Amino acid sequence: MLRPPAAAAPFRRRGTLSYLHFMCAAILCATTIFVAAQIASPKAQINDPALDARIDAVLRQMTLEEKVGQLVQYSAGQPTGPGTGRSDYEEMIGRGQIGSLFNVVDPHQINTYQHIAMEKARLHIPILFGLDVIHGFRTEFPIPLALASTWDPSIVEKAAHAAAQEASAFGIRWTFHPMVDIARDARWGRMAEGAGEDPFLGSAMAVAYVHGYQGSRLDAPGSIAACAKHYVGYGAAEAGRDYNTTEISEHTLREYYLPPFHAAEQAGVASFMSAFNSLNSVPASANPFTLKQVLRKEWRFTGLVVSDWNAVGELIPQGVAADGATAARKAFVGGVDMDMVSSLYHDHLQNLVGSRQVPMNEIDDAVRHVLRVKFALGLFDHPFVDEAAAPKALYSPESLAVAQAAAERSFVLLRNANGPDGKPVLPLSAGVQNIVVIGPLAEDSSYPNGVPEGTGPRTSLTTELTKRLGAEHVSHFKGSGILDGTSEEMAAAVAGAQKADVVILALGETQDMSGEAASRAHLGLPGKQQELLESVVHTGKPVVLILFSGRPLTLPWAFENVPAVLAAWFPGIAGGPALTRTLFGDVNPSGRLVVSWPRSVGQEPLYYNALNTGRPPGDIDLTKPPSDIEARYVSRYIDEQNTPQFPFGYGASYTTFSYGSTTINTTKVKAADLNKNLHARTTAMTAEADVKNTGSRPGEEVVQLYIRLQGTSTAQPVRALKGFQTITLAAGETKHVKFELSPEAFAIWNDHNQFAAEPAKLDVWISPDSAHGTPAQAEILP
Ligand code: BGC
Repeated sequence: MLRPPAAAAPFRRRGTLSYLHFMCAAILCATTIFVAAQIASPKAQINDPALDARIDAVLRQMTLEEKVGQLVQYSAGQPTGPGTGRSDYEEMIGRGQIGSLFNVVDPHQINTYQHIAMEKARLHIPILFGLDVIHGFRTEFPIPLALASTWDPSIVEKAAHAAAQEASAFGIRWTFHPMVDIARDARWGRMAEGAGEDPFLGSAMAVAYVHGYQGSRLDAPGSIAACAKHYVGYGAAEAGRDYNTTEISEHTLREYYLPPFHAAEQAGVASFMSAFNSLNSVPASANPFTLKQVLRKEWRFTGLVVSDWNAVGELIPQGVAADGATAARKAFVGGVDMDMVSSLYHDHLQNLVGSRQVPMNEIDDAVRHVLRVKFALGLFDHPFVDEAAAPKALYSPESLAVAQAAAERSFVLLRNANGPDGKPVLPLSAGVQNIVVIGPLAEDSSYPNGVPEGTGPRTSLTTELTKRLGAEHVSHFKGSGILDGTSEEMAAAVAGAQKADVVILALGETQDMSGEAASRAHLGLPGKQQELLESVVHTGKPVVLILFSGRPLTLPWAFENVPAVLAAWFPGIAGGPALTRTLFGDVNPSGRLVVSWPRSVGQEPLYYNALNTGRPPGDIDLTKPPSDIEARYVSRYIDEQNTPQFPFGYGASYTTFSYGSTTINTTKVKAADLNKNLHARTTAMTAEADVKNTGSRPGEEVVQLYIRLQGTSTAQPVRALKGFQTITLAAGETKHVKFELSPEAFAIWNDHNQFAAEPAKLDVWISPDSAHGTPAQAEILP
């Protein structure tokens, strides 16, 4: 196993974000300072007026067929489906009928196609090659949900950049990522691909990905175009069932679902992908409100919009088009520039222009968007890839170091109770004699480390533990499969556990239980794993449960009965060493939840930044069924608590932290002043607190700032994250933490459909998570 040398030294650059810093960097481009900072950025490059002349020079020569060709994309590799699996891509490219291909990962094949485009096709327009580079190309980083759990945009940016370097070396210049969908429902499998439930954190992660993939210039070596997806509301699928319908009010869209997309746009993302879902009865892939009004008119986005896979074709089963021609027309005039795989633009757009159902000037605009991205990427000047050099770009020591550091920072310690010796079970003592590792995810490195199996320097948890302690101190029993298992396997594991000093149980989901088309109605451990867990815990041995999953799992029994539980998500290629170092305390867990962890599936959708009801339960004890009218007629379940198992922002550590009270520099601010400076880079309020490491080892704390506004024209959430900072504290050390809040931190989407600050009662918390702390109080006056 290759243990990257730099991995031992965790990254020292810390995520520090307050609303002022973040929103100024990501959202507010109106100030002189920000505009100046953008000159070398991909956003400036895409909007560079010098590109217009080159774009127009090409456009002027194009026939309608060639124009439509730029708007057509096929998958020329696996998987296949509607509109794919054609055998005539080369001929089509030669005729200028294809603008983009994806799922081609062989650089020789990419060059072959590109030579046809550049040499045989009349106008020599390069093909844009795309791929879902989601958490790495070959060096696999933790899944995005895990990366977000680091609360460290700088490491996310590094991971995205490393992925871009590998992918671009293979000729892939466009990733369909980041997925910036807000995910409030753990049943939805694609929660794994995003940054969780919060728009502020989600925006910070969106910006980090865009910067990482796109670098300082799109045409620089190692940069690829990013794609903010799935625009918009896809994560609000009803009942958490993938592809399902969504109903989201404009208010909720503006305050929760749109901000990460807007942040990506302001960071210069080159493309957007329109989503599958029907949004308020109008499919997101034929939705002029979101695609034209918001994205093009309000945000002035000039890059390219691609549909999701066959989303144009899906307008027919969605009920807004009776035939392919109508689907193509509705998607196109709705604002989708490029048709991913359905072939309906190829089949119908020319006729639709001929019959004046689609205006030619809109075709020209869409082609401009595509050509703009191709020019900005430098593809016209450097269309080919160095085939011989490609493999050398993979698995660099730097990338592996980022993968390990990211994994180590992503683990969330959910519980660490005392073992039989009266001490917390974790970290394990260096002299532990007999570790028994049990579970289907301990040895099969393809699960914790992701696909493709057998490639790259990956090792399993058991291998790493064995390397550290010696084979005589580590034994492994499968116990069960992930989905199945035999009584013999289980009996052997339980017998093995009897001899252990400590048992490490590696349980969870298969990788394909999260991601696309992986919604679950049951969020427990699949197969026989719960039985295995209980049997092993009943041996009375100290047990550490490591959960591998793409979402929180509802495991109330485990959280009562298993002393130590670590959420490892899917940690990527360096999962084995990262986990081993964490178990032994070389690394103190610092990951924090980016989604509320449910107690029961029935609580979903569950998110901390919810509105209050007219009947909040207040002090009523929700652990008991209602015993009288007062306890019953409140917003509650009669058989479950309202609170999550673990709140958004939560994560334990091998040390402990205490918070001093939150203080603010003013208790009165004026809405009029806030609104005057809404987009200015000024500080409207500062909030401060002391944070102390009260334990006996150094640790990192993610200090979070939340606000609540009451008395506004539209109801605001019980808490909203507006800043976070990661600090490192030595044992016993206290640090003073200060946040600067910009005017925009207090703006809401009001009853006049505008962002503005309003008179309100204001609470400000500096706290370790979304459920604790005592707020400082202030007032926003008219
Ligand atoms: C997914 C997208 C992905 C696309 C291309 C779709 O099924 O929803 O997220 O980018 O396929 O692979």
